[in-house]
Amino acid sequence: MERVLAVLFLLAAHAASAAAGVTSPYRRSLQMLPVMPLDADVFRQPPGHNAPEQVHITQGDLTGRAMTVSWVTPEHPGSNVVRYGLAADNLNLTAEGTVQRYTWGGTYQSPYIHHATLTGLDHATVYHYAVGYGYTVRSFSFKTPPKPGPDAPIKFGLIGDLGQTFHSNDTVAHYEANGGDAVLFIGDLCYADNHPGHDNRRWDTWARFVERSVAYQPWIWTAGNHEIDYAPEIGETVPFKPFTHRYPTPFRASNSTGHLWYSVKMASAHVIMLSSYSAYGKYTPQWTWLQDELRRVDRKTTPWLIVCVHSPWYNTNDYHYMEGETMRVQFERWLVDAKADLVLAGHVHSYERTHRVSNVAYDIANGKATPQFNASAPVYVNIGDGGNTEGLANSFRSPQPDYSAFREASYGHATLDIKNRTHAYYEWHRNQDGVKVVADKAWFTNRYYMPTHTN
Ligand SMILES: [Fe+2]
Repeated sequence: MERVLAVLFLLAAHAASAAAGVTSPYRRSLQMLPVMPLDADVFRQPPGHNAPEQVHITQGDLTGRAMTVSWVTPEHPGSNVVRYGLAADNLNLTAEGTVQRYTWGGTYQSPYIHHATLTGLDHATVYHYAVGYGYTVRSFSFKTPPKPGPDAPIKFGLIGDLGQTFHSNDTVAHYEANGGDAVLFIGDLCYADNHPGHDNRRWDTWARFVERSVAYQPWIWTAGNHEIDYAPEIGETVPFKPFTHRYPTPFRASNSTGHLWYSVKMASAHVIMLSSYSAYGKYTPQWTWLQDELRRVDRKTTPWLIVCVHSPWYNTNDYHYMEGETMRVQFERWLVDAKADLVLAGHVHSYERTHRVSNVAYDIANGKATPQFNASAPVYVNIGDGGNTEGLANSFRSPQPDYSAFREASYGHATLDIKNRTHAYYEWHRNQDGVKVVADKAWFTNRYYMPTHTN
């Protein structure tokens, strides 16, 4: 009888822990992953003399009536103009861009980097555009996001820590198959700094690799630690030099003074990008901007408040544990007061989703340092599982803390499908043997329109 009771007790204990959170048993190889070789097909340069390559777009203003097109030309500056219009055979509008190069480590010279912003666009409209001239014109298209409004739908892809391994390629392929409208990229793009001398050819290969998605839909950039590229040993002492030359952000449109922290409004979402690797202490430019920015959020128009930051504030993996803590202490209270819906982070190379928790009661003297369930708090998603060369973070803390809803050390991406002002459907897609698998899913309810609902 005692044994039966003991078994029942163990089963009950197991059920209680399962309700608290799931640690997925699925396991991938934990080894470092091979980077795709320089001659991989996804890195191939397009044919034609001085053909434009590495084409990518990002939103060019606050609300989606402008799009910034970036591309490089390898041999000489070439044309600096984007031709665009409503039909592929009638590109009747033009935008003049800028062109620049940079050097790296005394040995590398970048190709000619162009940026041009197409303005005066209509919302929710397909535009065709072309770069290059003569025999080397390359043509693409994109759709602008819907006009900001409470029920305007949009489906975001959520990708972080992508790199350029074979798993990275799977992640992009699976995201393409899922068909999002735009990507919120949570930092750590190409991992050039893992190569000797921060081999900047890896910035070029990565941009060729992701062109197949980012030339056709805006990716919104958050900077990670692999964008810092601080390398005094080779004379490179200006942080973020390759990233800022290659990846513009519309920071001025949201009254920011820094390339790395800014916001965009897309459909029913107000998305804030923060920089884990720029000053955020009190009185700093990022701190001041965020304080002002949260006052500018209009939930009646854009009910979904999403914050992207590279280093996670809640993460139950030993890998990078507590690295985001100082920023959490600085900003969490603001996000809880603002009833933010979702905080996206990367950096830790695994996947995790939390319940709605906050840890804002601590004041050094009262000892209240345990995260609490809080309907006003955001869900924290860690999506640092894009597939980079450093391999997986598989050292989860045990027992699984109550605030962790689901965690798994695998590669993948997520999608956030905002349906209307009250509901968004979220899925995490594991890269499993080349076939995308939905391994975690949830309906999120909006914190402004359904503030007491716990999901
Ligand atoms: Fe990182």
